[in-house]
Amino acid sequence: MKETDYDKIFSRFKGVESDIIPMLLRIQEKEGYISEEAVMRMSRFLRISENQIYGVASFYSRYRFNKPGRNSIKVCMGTACHVHGGKFSCEAFEWQFGVKIGERSDDGKFDLQQVNCMGCCTLAPVVQINEDIYGHTLVTGLKEMLRKYE
Ligand code: FES
Repeated sequence: MKETDYDKIFSRFKGVESDIIPMLLRIQEKEGYISEEAVMRMSRFLRISENQIYGVASFYSRYRFNKPGRNSIKVCMGTACHVHGGKFSCEAFEWQFGVKIGERSDDGKFDLQQVNCMGCCTLAPVVQINEDIYGHTLVTGLKEMLRKYE
């Protein structure tokens, strides 16, 4: 994000501690994630430590600290999905892309996230890729599922 983008976002705020959450939201809307540079600039603007900002941001699962991939894979780890093997899908994606939860593949095609219940437990285990929901997923079918997004 350019300096002018930050200036534009920051101009909407007073520069007080209670601005942290709405500022994080605006930055993530614009950039897709919360970069180290964004936290550093917020820290200067709000005159609080970067640790305080990370402390607030990391409390909420909605904030991401890694650049998103072109396609977003979300593996549900809610109770129903966990019981039906969601963990194995997660491990399979991690192995396939050489990434951990929250990271992006080296080629930038995919990022991997773990989420709690998506509200469609009868389809457990559930994987979401971008806006597409896949239910009753099997580890053996994940590679085929990804082909559409290559
Ligand atoms: S637990 Fe996965 S959709 Fe509800």
